[in-house]
Amino acid sequence: MRTVADLIAAGASRLPVDNPRREARLLLARVLGRDPDRLYLRPDELVSAGEEELFFKLISERGALRRPLQYILGTAEFMSLEFEVGPGVMVPRPETEILVERALEVIGGRAVSILDVGTGSGAIAVSLLVYAPRARAMATDLSPRALGIAARNAARHGVADRVEFRCGDLLEPVRGQSFDLVAANLPYIPTGDLAGLEPEVREHEPRLALDGGPDGLDLYRKLIPGVPAALAEGGALLVEISPGQARDVADMMLQAGLVGLEVLSDYSGRDRVVLGRRRVKSASGERD
Ligand SMILES: C[S@@+](CC[C@H](N)C(=O)[O-])C[C@H]1O[C@@H](n2cnc3c(N)ncnc32)[C@H](O)[C@@H]1O
Repeated sequence: MRTVADLIAAGASRLPVDNPRREARLLLARVLGRDPDRLYLRPDELVSAGEEELFFKLISERGALRRPLQYILGTAEFMSLEFEVGPGVMVPRPETEILVERALEVIGGRAVSILDVGTGSGAIAVSLLVYAPRARAMATDLSPRALGIAARNAARHGVADRVEFRCGDLLEPVRGQSFDLVAANLPYIPTGDLAGLEPEVREHEPRLALDGGPDGLDLYRKLIPGVPAALAEGGALLVEISPGQARDVADMMLQAGLVGLEVLSDYSGRDRVVLGRRRVKSASGERD
């Protein structure tokens, strides 16, 4: 039998990832049913042969097959909340927290209505509802599988009674309704760039969540013209983009008649979110 410390070192040596010891520790903690932060308290503890076998099976899924760690663990952290994830749903990314944080500023604690287009795991809608307890949301996706996971994430975080999930294309499932805030993190990777992505993304995450067409902007080109009709006066649209797409997406928003545009950067200083607002109409005419 081998010890916890031995197994972490041996597992880490087989992982071609950025932080192999951390990932090996998380996988061993999962096998042993322990808190990963407490594994090192007893580094000489012996691990049973069965547990060792299961640990190396997970190490090879991660190292040889390059399955995303979050799919193996079944969870991902987003906005300090734990979300269920798995095959068929995109792992929420830290960059998307920029969109959620700005949306929370826009909401400012008000009892607003939110639409999350392409909700995936529900990361955006559910975290907005957790941190904006008076808000309500609708969330759409083309993938029934993603919507099933999103619904479980809503229940997990106690917001299921304030969100409705609908399957369909972009705004189609909410036709005729309007919202105070529309958020969208739609596929924006150019088709030609997909082959160059990390194997975790390229081979395991759903193409439906990644492929944005020839220049990555097909989905936004289709979504944005319809957004003003889905926004209440003064309502805001926030979309996540790939750096380099800000100008095109801002132009689409201006073409659609949105005003008050903002481009927000991520933690690496790269354009990541574009915001636009629907004008407020006054009795004397239109003003911004
Ligand atoms: C980049 S993922 C983002 C998921 C989630 N919003 C997040 O931030 O983690 C894009 C999502 O849009 C969904 N999607 C793709 N095309 C769509 C469409 N035409 N209508 C609705 N959802 C779509 C995908 O299934 C996927 O869940």
